[in-house]
Amino acid sequence: MRKTLAILAVSSMFILPTAAMAAEGAAGPQELADGARVYAESCASCHGVNLEGQANWRQLNENGRLPAPPHNARGHTWHHDDATLFGITKLGTAEFTGLDIASDMPAFKDILSDDEIRAVLAYIKSRWPARIRRQQESINRRAENR
Ligand code: HEC
Repeated sequence: MRKTLAILAVSSMFILPTAAMAAEGAAGPQELADGARVYAESCASCHGVNLEGQANWRQLNENGRLPAPPHNARGHTWHHDDATLFGITKLGTAEFTGLDIASDMPAFKDILSDDEIRAVLAYIKSRWPARIRRQQESINRRAENR
């Protein structure tokens, strides 16, 4: 009996987070595989195959533009809510922010479908440590309550 209870307790630890993730629409394996493919084809050339970004990404380059920042925990992608990440990817930084800035970040609206953009962002997030994912989720909640 005690053993059964222990097994139940352990298995519910795994089932509960899965149910919670499904409720939040967490990415499934197919979406993550699609996202990894989109990332390799469309983002890795600038943001790095391992999400590491370009060298000296905090300093303007010789053209006076920002290099591509990392998408991993060391960058600031995770400082943005989902709607912002989607908007920057779809429209590019200048159009999304409405600011007159010279940017090398392309607009992907004519290249990727909305589903592909969501998949690539889900893939990027899947590479973050749990602590960073939780922080970005709380940024999302704050943005939704605005
Ligand atoms: C040609 C180079 C290039 C490619 C390809 C590229 N980016 Fe970028 N990206 C940049 C640069 C440069 C920035 C820095 C902000 C700026 O200058 O607009 C940036 C910024 C971003 C940001 C904002 C990050 C932050 O911390 O503020 C996101 C999100 C982003 N890119 C997503 C993507 C995704 C997703 C892809 C692939 C679908 C992609 N980028 C492909 C160059 C690129």
